[in-house]
Amino acid sequence: MSSYGILFNRPSIIGREMEYVAQAVANSHISGDGIFTKRCHRLLEETVGVKKALLTTSCTHSLEMAAMLLDVKPGDEVIIPSFTFVSTINAFVLRGAQPVFADIRPDTLNLDIDNLERLITNQTKAVIAMHYGGVGCEMDGLMNIADGQGLAVVEDNAHGLFGKYKGRQLGTFGRFSTQSFHETKNFSCGEGGALLINRQEDIERAEIIREKGTNRSLFFRGQVDKYTWVDIGSSFLPSDMLAAFLLAQLEERDRIQAKRKLIWDAYYEHLKIWANDYAVRLPIVPPHCEQSWHLFYLLLPSLKARQALIAHLAEHGILSVFHYLPLHLSPMGRRYGGAEGDCPVAEDVSDRLLRLPFYFSLSPNEQSQVIEAICSFKC
Ligand SMILES: Cc1ncc(COP(=O)(O)O)c(C=O)c1O
Repeated sequence: MSSYGILFNRPSIIGREMEYVAQAVANSHISGDGIFTKRCHRLLEETVGVKKALLTTSCTHSLEMAAMLLDVKPGDEVIIPSFTFVSTINAFVLRGAQPVFADIRPDTLNLDIDNLERLITNQTKAVIAMHYGGVGCEMDGLMNIADGQGLAVVEDNAHGLFGKYKGRQLGTFGRFSTQSFHETKNFSCGEGGALLINRQEDIERAEIIREKGTNRSLFFRGQVDKYTWVDIGSSFLPSDMLAAFLLAQLEERDRIQAKRKLIWDAYYEHLKIWANDYAVRLPIVPPHCEQSWHLFYLLLPSLKARQALIAHLAEHGILSVFHYLPLHLSPMGRRYGGAEGDCPVAEDVSDRLLRLPFYFSLSPNEQSQVIEAICSFKC
């Protein structure tokens, strides 16, 4: 049992999750690609507006599929923001790529496009954009540079499902985008993900890679009379029970997002005076971005203040957590040449950022306790 009365995250049953899981079992189909998986695919394709959606076992696996689909090989360089989750780059390193770490913007904490061109070489294969907190990267600038240099763009959209940049859904800009349905995400089935595909010509190979390198999907559609090994691949299909759970959450997307917006707005409204008094920065969402209401963070004035606030909230029974450590300074990042000072904004932000409890079932009373505890803290 946790000693925290208010957790950082808590999974929720929102609607028909258990009914759908029971139906998947009753259908006698709990392996991959049953009717619930297909319904999730259709819903994602229609609501996000992508050519094809394929459920996977995690966002990590979707990123690994993207690396295989791009034929990333030893000698290729892949540019990623240093302030992201390890899977964003590990997927490409697994194929032999050299990571090239880019710094982030101080406002949205997304990839800094102004510094991108100097990182591009003849070996650069792809740029990975990660939409931090579901606030869009500067996609116009990024796509201009990438298209001009013939580079593939992959959007790691683990945080950003249904967020928009200049009115256009995140996940529709890059050649591929990847979603996470991990327990901590807005829509969840515990562990899960999706690969979203924006080019018709990538669909068939993606299906093959997802099905252990076989053309089994073509066989099930009657396009070939037997299926066999045709490419590299692995087992990236989630159980239809997970898809059933996820579908119930995706169907409640409006209710989930509306509730998360209320929570986000209440944090912002009730913390802004305190934040101003103590030089704490609250999240910045540019007017041309519609965020996905994924997380709420505080940027404290120093590492010492951040650590003291974590301890202060813990004394009030509240769990708050920091976020990514800069990848270029991790033991693996250093093996690839990362060093102090390479990405100064990521290094600075990583020390000072704190995320607050944020989940669908967070009650107004629990949120008031968090806000009161924070406002009683003097930085
Ligand atoms: C930006 C980002 N990408 C990828 C992942 C990995 O997601 P998954 O746990 O679904 O593999 C995470 C996990 O939180 C993440 O924050």
